[in-house]
Amino acid sequence: MASDQKVAVVTGAAGGLGACFARKLAELDYELILIDRREDDVNRLCGELRSISNTKVEPIAADLCDNEAVAELARRLAALPHIELLINNAGFGFSQDFVDVEIQRHIDMIALHVMTPASLTHAVLPRMIERNRGAIINVSSLGAWTPSAGSVQYCSTKAYLVSFSESLQDELRGTKLRVQALCPGFIHTGFHDRDGMSHLDIGKIPKWLWVTTDEAVKCSLQNLSRGQVIVIPGFLPRILGRCMRMPMLQPLVRALSRQPRRDDKNAATR
Ligand SMILES: NC(=O)c1ccc[n+]([C@@H]2O[C@H](COP(=O)([O-])OP(=O)(O)OC[C@H]3O[C@@H](n4cnc5c(N)ncnc54)[C@H](OP(=O)(O)O)[C@@H]3O)[C@@H](O)[C@H]2O)c1
Repeated sequence: MASDQKVAVVTGAAGGLGACFARKLAELDYELILIDRREDDVNRLCGELRSISNTKVEPIAADLCDNEAVAELARRLAALPHIELLINNAGFGFSQDFVDVEIQRHIDMIALHVMTPASLTHAVLPRMIERNRGAIINVSSLGAWTPSAGSVQYCSTKAYLVSFSESLQDELRGTKLRVQALCPGFIHTGFHDRDGMSHLDIGKIPKWLWVTTDEAVKCSLQNLSRGQVIVIPGFLPRILGRCMRMPMLQPLVRALSRQPRRDDKNAATR
């Protein structure tokens, strides 16, 4: 993919938010490198984008929990001179008590939400710094500020992405590079239908906490040009997010977001 055009890399691009980013970026004339472990779906999306735009699109099938696959991908990306945007979007959740989840699932989540974004960012940054242009979007979550039972690993890894983004942007001050932690509340995607999410009763989540993928992508890209690091899509989720980050309101936030612990659940079913 050698050309003078701007290139965007999106992980977890086969569906949901990642696919929405890909469609929007194709409209904005980015060349795309779309990565997902769902090979058929990512190929299908590339075909769709080629048929509706002149954009060059390259699919890469990779499991981003696999260290070796990520190292190989990082080597490929490091060699590309024109990457303008990296979106670390791939992610998954499970709504189960920490101790009930296989340790490998925890390790996979730490790999996908922490190690992979760090490796890919480290791979693309030198060229971005050299050109003094480029941006990195790390898809985090409002969960970064609502530590809660049943989401121990999810909240912890998403909190890492916020801190990583804020610290990195600070390190890059004085350059034109931008780092964003995109922190949605809830987005309408297939995310909540995946394995391990059946314990979460999404019917109980207030409607105002949800946004569409289009709203989330639009908000992310608009705020990237404004240089804001923490970006929360949706008016009410944004107000909530600001409150969550106020130290004085933390006890209240924790009380409201508290989920029953395992013992409490057992007691409830006794
Ligand atoms: N939906 C929400 O309410 C919400 C809220 C806040 C933050 N987020 C974050 O938004 C991001 C996108 O989620 P989404 O809502 O668009 O969910 P999604 O529809 O499940 O999309 C996530 C994509 O990432 C892929 N992926 C997962 N593990 C991977 C791996 N090891 N290697 C490569 N690709 C992998 C998934 O493939 P598989 O289908 O094979 O797993 C899927 O295509 C995630 O980081 C999520 O944490 C979502």
